[in-house]
Amino acid sequence: MPDLAPTSHNLSSNEFKRLNRFGITCKGLFIPSVQQYVSDGDSANSSSRPVFPVQVLINGLAETIQWDWNVRRDSEKHIMASNIQWRSVWLMLLFASTIAAGPVKRRSTESEKAPSETEISQIVEWIEQRYQQTKAHQTLAAWEYGSNLTEFNLSKKTKAAADFAEVAKAVAEELQQFKTDQLTNATLKRRIKKLAKLGYAALPADQFKELLGAIASMESNYAKAKFCAYGDATKCDLSLDPELTEIFANHREPEELKYYWVQWYNATGAPVRESFQKYVELNRQAALRNNFSSGAAVWLNEYDDSTFEQQVDDVIEQIRPLYEQLHAYVRYKLRQKYGDKLVSPTGPIPMHLLGNLWAQTWDNIADFTTPFPEKKLLDVTDEMIRQGYTPIKMFQMGDDFFTSLNMTKLPQTFWDKSILEKPTDGRDLVCHASAWDFFAIDDVRIKQCTRVNMREFFVVHHELGHIQYYLQYQHQPVEFRGGANPGFHEAVGDVLSLSVSTPKHLKKVGLLKDYEEDEQVKINQFYRAGVTKLVFLPFAYTLDKYRWGVFRGDIKPREYNCKFWEMRSRYSGVEPPVVRTEQDFDPPAKYHVSADVEYLRYFVSYVIQFQFHRAACALAGEYVKGDPEKTLNNCDIYQSTAAGNQLKEMLALGSSKPWPDAMEVLTGERKMSADAILEYFDPLYQWLLEENKRLGAHVGWTDSQKCVSHPIDFMAA
Ligand SMILES: *[C@@H]1O[C@H](CO)[C@@H](O)[C@H](O)[C@H]1NC(C)=O
Ligand SMILES: *[C@@H]1O[C@H](CO)[C@@H](O)[C@H](O)[C@H]1NC(C)=O
Ligand SMILES: [Zn+2]
Repeated sequence: MPDLAPTSHNLSSNEFKRLNRFGITCKGLFIPSVQQYVSDGDSANSSSRPVFPVQVLINGLAETIQWDWNVRRDSEKHIMASNIQWRSVWLMLLFASTIAAGPVKRRSTESEKAPSETEISQIVEWIEQRYQQTKAHQTLAAWEYGSNLTEFNLSKKTKAAADFAEVAKAVAEELQQFKTDQLTNATLKRRIKKLAKLGYAALPADQFKELLGAIASMESNYAKAKFCAYGDATKCDLSLDPELTEIFANHREPEELKYYWVQWYNATGAPVRESFQKYVELNRQAALRNNFSSGAAVWLNEYDDSTFEQQVDDVIEQIRPLYEQLHAYVRYKLRQKYGDKLVSPTGPIPMHLLGNLWAQTWDNIADFTTPFPEKKLLDVTDEMIRQGYTPIKMFQMGDDFFTSLNMTKLPQTFWDKSILEKPTDGRDLVCHASAWDFFAIDDVRIKQCTRVNMREFFVVHHELGHIQYYLQYQHQPVEFRGGANPGFHEAVGDVLSLSVSTPKHLKKVGLLKDYEEDEQVKINQFYRAGVTKLVFLPFAYTLDKYRWGVFRGDIKPREYNCKFWEMRSRYSGVEPPVVRTEQDFDPPAKYHVSADVEYLRYFVSYVIQFQFHRAACALAGEYVKGDPEKTLNNCDIYQSTAAGNQLKEMLALGSSKPWPDAMEVLTGERKMSADAILEYFDPLYQWLLEENKRLGAHVGWTDSQKCVSHPIDFMAA
């Protein structure tokens, strides 16, 4: 079930802490990042990168920029024709090592006219080599550090990252000079567009440095947050991970939860308000320099579709009725437990009672809110242990799933070079599961300190989804070796997990025995999935909708905090446990806000994975619309070459085409839509409609009163 799928957001391990401390995540680097995906899209929610390498990086980049800037200013005075000569010389300097090593010949004497399309194509090919080498080098250094945390490896990693940033910037500036409008070859145009992205590096050196500094200070503030234990002022070494995370997952005493909530939001928010404002201002400058109207446009540009924001809004509208039913039911259960005084029958839910600091998923409170508590929940961990499962065996089964679909078998190097179990040689490493592409052929690896249990069994499939994507698009040029849009990569792994986690599949592979599946058991399963995947959607939506508003200037600094809570309340029906004011500043309490990481990708992944699942299930003959025997939520695509072949074709495109083209290959659809996720959850929806009626649970919620602009007025009132 998706409730146990690898995208769960309640991580609390020590590995995690380490992961974040050293900044190895798939989404958090300032510079063009290493291609790797951690198992939990959202999970980098604690702490951050160390200040040291960031500083080195900033200095390194600042130098590069200074140098480039002067060169560029000169170059802009010349017309295209004379630029050619300059470019040749400059590129030769820049790529001296490539020239020395390879057969590339640049003809600086023949460059009196503007380059033809063929010539531009050659230049791109040529640049590509160097770009790929540097990126591969950076990835390897990051891997070596992540799997062996020593100072030496860190310095190598930092150096490699700075080298790559330098090359990426040089490449971008170089390619920006071509007038791509006139190119007839769409692929070439797209390659140049991707390689020519400058991002923040478009800022003048001092502003660039200032921007990275502002982000680094937010991140480091987040990372360093420490707290005293509730009711014990002498024990003050608690941090988000593992302590706060575990307390929110398992403790049920409202006063204690409220205490930690306030501690956390106070510590991670208000102190960085100034940095945040600086960040917003410079983010805007960078966007303008890249010819975008705002940072919102920069983020949305990754989705290649001018209607995308509308599609996102539409999804939220589409799921609203189901969300309201789920919300009403959970609020009712919380009132049963905590009473009307704490939980209003008609207002937003006080978020500290939902099992997660951000109330982004509510699966941690499924134990006392589940529809049929007397029924057994699906869990095959004991059976795995009984049958002597090992980490290797889990990966072999994942590999078998892919090959059963006629997809690519894991190459031998995967088995030779991956780290699938926690090493016992005493070294320190980032243990959190991640999947890596080394930008060569057949060099893909996973690093996961795998434990034998059901949750990790799904994580294995999720990670192998990333690996399969890498293998399918490895023939593409490096700038196309990525997901069709930021949501695709995470979605692919989950599509597999949606099949693997069905009782049907688990029975097939001999892991589930004597499991009686009746309607009540199924409702329990869908409920778990709902409080994991469905409630996440309005949360993820708000996080970026809010930041779009801030980036666009629609949300003003004086209303930064209350606008945030207004949106959290409007879309999710939750509110802070205490009154907040504009003296507080709560958005950075979420890692991705502090770290400047776009969040919509997780929203997208959660929606499109159901579209992918539905299409694959139909191809597998496992899903027939309207057939009660072949429903979307009981489909297993195992051994379907029809599904596999189509999936393969979509993945093989990498990011070479706009994502609707890729989606169309598998699903025939060109838009993101909530139809599939709603169909998956329809039995839950029907049950909730009945149940809420039976309980007399109020559906919907009133506006929150928990944020006021002026604390003084409030006190007087
Ligand atoms: C870890 O890296 C250090 C270099 O800093 C190296 O000497 C050591 O052999 C590495 N350990 C392993 C297990 O690879
Ligand atoms: C377009 O460019 C790509 C690479 O840049 C090349 O592989 C392809 O052959 C070109 N297509 C045509 C029709 O020339
Ligand atoms: Zn992932």
